[in-house]
Amino acid sequence: MADREGEEQAADDLVGFDRVVSSSADELERAAEAALRPRRLHEFVGQPVVRDQLSLVLRAAMSRGSAPDHVLLSGPPGLGKTTLAMIIAAELGTSLRVTSGPAIQHAGDLAAVLSSLTEGEVLFIDEIHRLARPAEELLYVAMEDFRVDIIVGKGAGASAIPLSLPRFTAVGATTRAGLLPAPLRDRFGFTGHLEFYDDADLEKVLVRSAKLLGIELEGAAAGEIASRSRGTPRIANRLLRRVRDWAEVLGTGHLDLAAARSALGVYEVDERGLDRLDRAVLTALCTRFGGGPVGLSTLAVSVGEEPETVETVAEPFLVREGLMARSPRGRVATSQTWAHLGLTPPAAGGTLFDVDS
Ligand SMILES: Nc1ncnc2c1ncn2[C@@H]1O[C@H](COP(=O)(O)OP(=O)(O)O)[C@@H](O)[C@H]1O
Ligand SMILES: [Mg+2]
Repeated sequence: MADREGEEQAADDLVGFDRVVSSSADELERAAEAALRPRRLHEFVGQPVVRDQLSLVLRAAMSRGSAPDHVLLSGPPGLGKTTLAMIIAAELGTSLRVTSGPAIQHAGDLAAVLSSLTEGEVLFIDEIHRLARPAEELLYVAMEDFRVDIIVGKGAGASAIPLSLPRFTAVGATTRAGLLPAPLRDRFGFTGHLEFYDDADLEKVLVRSAKLLGIELEGAAAGEIASRSRGTPRIANRLLRRVRDWAEVLGTGHLDLAAARSALGVYEVDERGLDRLDRAVLTALCTRFGGGPVGLSTLAVSVGEEPETVETVAEPFLVREGLMARSPRGRVATSQTWAHLGLTPPAAGGTLFDVDS
């Protein structure tokens, strides 16, 4: 198993591009994030549904003295999946082993990881939807029967030697739960779906981070940063650091509303948290494709991005904000899209699509 940094990097490469509101983290940023990660469930801000459910699952398992059911965490990047996986191990008082779908090249790699687990350990598999097929099949059996079949020999003479595993808890994280094959999804006893955070919860994240970083953050500035953070704690923490940079270099050192607004203006993060990529996607949708419908890949190519990036990073937030809609024939602009870009929608009878209808 490669080291943890390498694996997280592999997972992040998928959406790794340089934008201040990117929901993925690079290496430097992961170090900054590590310092801000809540360690226990009670420190984890927001997500009351997932938190309460998870708390029950963990407490019940602990009172029975056995490893809890396998846990699947799904949701867009930056909402706290890795953090929760670490919290699960911490709450159980056990250690966490980390790997990821892309880091596992062969079923044998996974077999090696599984057979080295100790009783009660938590195995975190990030980007689990990217596991190769043979590894996935090995994982079903391991999760269900706590067993791996080690294949010895090749071809007709090959035989499987069953190796029993200690009881462990698998925690899978995915940005695309829909891509997970049903048999794998069904092996998870508990699925937590992380939602985008509301501004009040993001403010709490910011206040907590500012305290940990020794930054004096005014309430109005926290509100302003929160409202431009796309419902995502990772982005909120990053914008906080950028506003601090601005305040130290160009401002008075105070993190007040004026500093927050000026700094976020410099980084081209607009009032709704959209950055250049988001606006490029929406602008292409409206001006090049007349508001759609247009297929995801065509739209992604027109802004020079991978379809998966547009789909997992930009789109969930744009859809939630009513700035883009999905239709069976492709992506479409809404009345809000045109309004936000300051453009005039085509005359009636065109493709204008209202998200509320
Ligand atoms: N509920 C939360 N409360 C406080 N901070 C959070 C919360 N969720 C995420 N964060 C912060 O956001 C950053 C990204 O979270 P992470 O768990 O890495 O997201 P994901 O794995 O879903 O991409 C972490 O550094 C963490 O500090
Ligand atoms: Mg993660």
